[in-house]
Amino acid sequence: MRGDAGRERWSSALGFIIASIGSAVGIGNIWRFPYIVGANGGGAFLIPYLISVFLFGLPLMMLEFAIGRSTGSSVVSAFKSIRDRLSFAGIAVAIVASLVVSYYLVITSWVLAYALFFATNRPMDFGAFTGSYIPLVFFLLSGIAVFLTVRSGVREGIERVSRILIPVLVVILLFLVVFALTQPGAPDGIAFYLSPDYSRLSDPTVWTAAFGQAFFSLSVGMGVMLTYGSYLEGGNLFRNASVIAVADVLIAILAGFVIFPLVFTAGLDPASGVNLAFITLPAVFLEMRFGMLLGALFFAMLFAAALTSAVSMLEVPVAVMIDSRGYSRKRATLLVTGVIMLLGLPSALSYTALDLRLFGSLLLDLSDYIFGTVGLIIAGLIICMVGGWYMDRARICEELGGCEWQQRAYLVLIRYCVPAVLAITLLATLIQAGG
Ligand code: PHE
Repeated sequence: MRGDAGRERWSSALGFIIASIGSAVGIGNIWRFPYIVGANGGGAFLIPYLISVFLFGLPLMMLEFAIGRSTGSSVVSAFKSIRDRLSFAGIAVAIVASLVVSYYLVITSWVLAYALFFATNRPMDFGAFTGSYIPLVFFLLSGIAVFLTVRSGVREGIERVSRILIPVLVVILLFLVVFALTQPGAPDGIAFYLSPDYSRLSDPTVWTAAFGQAFFSLSVGMGVMLTYGSYLEGGNLFRNASVIAVADVLIAILAGFVIFPLVFTAGLDPASGVNLAFITLPAVFLEMRFGMLLGALFFAMLFAAALTSAVSMLEVPVAVMIDSRGYSRKRATLLVTGVIMLLGLPSALSYTALDLRLFGSLLLDLSDYIFGTVGLIIAGLIICMVGGWYMDRARICEELGGCEWQQRAYLVLIRYCVPAVLAITLLATLIQAGG
């Protein structure tokens, strides 16, 4: 059973691919990937990472597309049409997506602020910035940006914004790569980034870091790709998903070729986490010739990446309200954005003078851990189980274009291997936090 004929659709397969690349390419690629590589064995990390992306992440992405396309509906009604009592599992997935976007928007808003600071030649110290209430203004602006995009619809909003922002992002990235590689610190930066330390591959935490990063970066496990797949007609899922995954990996790897050469040229320490993006890199730009322009370009690129990802997460609960509750898109977007902004407010306020903490962690960091890491893995497990175990096998084969040995091998991956990898990653994440 395909969805109703009146359902919104992408304008073409290309539109769908660009929107999905927009979702996949986010803060995870440009800021998180490079420092995770640097911290986990440099070039050697690419081995577990590429295995995770293509052996586990890609099959999950294809499964999401297959569920979305074959049911023609968003996560709750899609699960419901697979088995009536599974709609609660769909609700859980939509809640995780909503919680993740609520704090992801906070980081998106910092990026927007930094882009404007550099563009207007008024860089601001991170402590002074977060200590003020300026971040709240940008949080509101980012919320308005995602709201307007999603409200305009799948084709006129999400697809159109991605078609503009993704090419811009690629052009800026290529320009920055060329620039960074001609700087004096480039050899040292690249040595730090990519020198392979193969001994690290025997460390299981390096592997679980690769799994977690791969799922997050590909935007799988949160119903985003399922929702995007529900607006798709026809096409080869394996080919489409492969294009998206390759683009995602390439952009992540290239981002490292910008960041480390610049950090080493400025003689700074390649920090990790929040410090790298909002303290170290701004310090680098302040030291360089044309630093204001470079900083503005870098943060504009990061904003393009973050916005198209945030939009994709918002679309998950919005599509649920439209499909399951019969809301109009305008009404659903208004309601969902409002709720998400409220949910994100504690995270947005946590770095201000209020210093909001729970169990000793700032709420933003805690949200990233609970929702973005643990929640994402659990939601991914749910999708895998529902798709792999409950969805009719013939239906999956139909979506995959046959039931030859390749499709059967795929089913083994989706039923056993991907859930096992997700479960191991979940355990490792919980143990690490406890220890
Ligand atoms: N893939 C995005 C990034 O790399 C984050 C994301 C995760 C977006 C899950 C949607 C769903 O930043």
